[in-house]
Amino acid sequence: MEEAGHLLLEIFDQIPALLKPGVSTLELDAWIEEQQKHRNLVSKMKGYRGYRHVSCISVNDEVVHGVPNAKRILVDGDLVKIDVCVSYNGYCADMARSYVIGTGNAADQARKLAEVARQALDKGIEKARPGNRLTDISAAIQAEVEKHGFGVVRDFAGHGIGRQMHEDPEILNYGKAGQGPLLQPGMAFALEPMITQGKYDVYITADGWTVKTVDKSLAAHVEDTIVITQDKPKIITRK
Ligand code: MF3
Ligand code: CO
Repeated sequence: MEEAGHLLLEIFDQIPALLKPGVSTLELDAWIEEQQKHRNLVSKMKGYRGYRHVSCISVNDEVVHGVPNAKRILVDGDLVKIDVCVSYNGYCADMARSYVIGTGNAADQARKLAEVARQALDKGIEKARPGNRLTDISAAIQAEVEKHGFGVVRDFAGHGIGRQMHEDPEILNYGKAGQGPLLQPGMAFALEPMITQGKYDVYITADGWTVKTVDKSLAAHVEDTIVITQDKPKIITRK
């Protein structure tokens, strides 16, 4: 899993340079697919429940599971979430980052939301230690998001990960601390807060995939794959 994470990170490291106004989300997906092939990474997304792409790219009020599209051209101020899951020698790494195109007031607001998503993920990761319980992670994420007045999406969650992209348990991004299984070394989780500038309600659009906020407010999403160890967790999708 560490190798998968390291190789996936190599791809993500190059993404900021590609995120310019005028690029389509389908072009980005095609580039990611080519990069995966170079590294012998297998997409865990392509073919999953009939999904046809290697990434989910969600823009502005799209929260997660945005479908790459040639007509979706990025513009200044866009808040872009890119989510990619791969396996290497049969073991998975799942990762997402939020990016903001350009500058100006819209971009500043988007950047603030993206920063809070990242801080919430960090707070959750800090709780991923032996002796803590699963929902200690959930509660820490929720507290950080709500401290900033933002919303935590309820309808999607993080997950266990290993040979499969999605394994038990489900890891909610909200809830009361101190519940669920005791955390133990060797457990591997994909933690992925999805947060909104406004209300947390979301719906799935007519394409059957894209998740959007009901109130059309901006959303941010970040995800890391981590493994519990004797002390602090190993984050396999960071350096
Ligand atoms: N990688 C996503 C997750 O974080 C799942 C995307 S669903 C897919 O759980 F079909 F697009 F792959
Ligand atoms: Co995931």
